[in-house]
Amino acid sequence: MVRAYDPARPVPADVRDRLLVNALHAPSAGFSQGWGFLVLESAEHRGLFWSVTSEPGEADSWLTGMSAAPMLVVCFSHKDAYLDRYAEADKGWTDREESRWPVPYWDIDTGMAALLMLQTAVDEGLGACFFGVPPEYIPALRSAFGVPEAFCPIGVVSVGYRLPDALSLSLRRGRRGLDEVVHHGRW
Ligand SMILES: Cc1cc2nc3c(=O)[nH]c(=O)nc-3n(C[C@H](O)[C@H](O)[C@H](O)COP(=O)(O)O)c2cc1C
Repeated sequence: MVRAYDPARPVPADVRDRLLVNALHAPSAGFSQGWGFLVLESAEHRGLFWSVTSEPGEADSWLTGMSAAPMLVVCFSHKDAYLDRYAEADKGWTDREESRWPVPYWDIDTGMAALLMLQTAVDEGLGACFFGVPPEYIPALRSAFGVPEAFCPIGVVSVGYRLPDALSLSLRRGRRGLDEVVHHGRW
């Protein structure tokens, strides 16, 4: 994850398009493809995003670095698309009962699409970061950009040419080892 960007270098249009096309090749349960992506590139649109998702006057180093990103892709999951898809004849869950779902596949699949964007950015020599939108800002985000209520922002991918940045303090935790998390044959 990259949290500092060169504000003078926009994401080339062909890179942006490849990133989005790759995202649409993410796997999805029942091939539901219940997602939507809000792409923000102009200074006006990006400024509006940051103004509705942060407090006025808030300017910590995270926000300073991230708000320089020339492109943001807000990733939305659409639960209804899954409930509709699984009510079709080949699935047959016509009662749209949510308890059948082991986990919210709409959020999982949209996350997989976001990962493909992150990987495409790296392949293209750019940097990217996935970050969340705090729940208290979600109504204002929807309202600012005309997003229907049924679409839930599961996170945002910032993209741009990277500048040197400070590593996240979270990395001090170290990467967990295979021995700790992988169970062969029996837990
Ligand atoms: C679901 C999710 C939410 C995240 N939220 C944030 C965030 O709000 N802010 C941020 O700076 N990084 C966020 N990250 C990035 C993680 O901090 C980062 O992936 C982790 O520290 C490992 O670093 P690496 O991806 O550079 O290896 C998020 C990652 C995931 C998968």
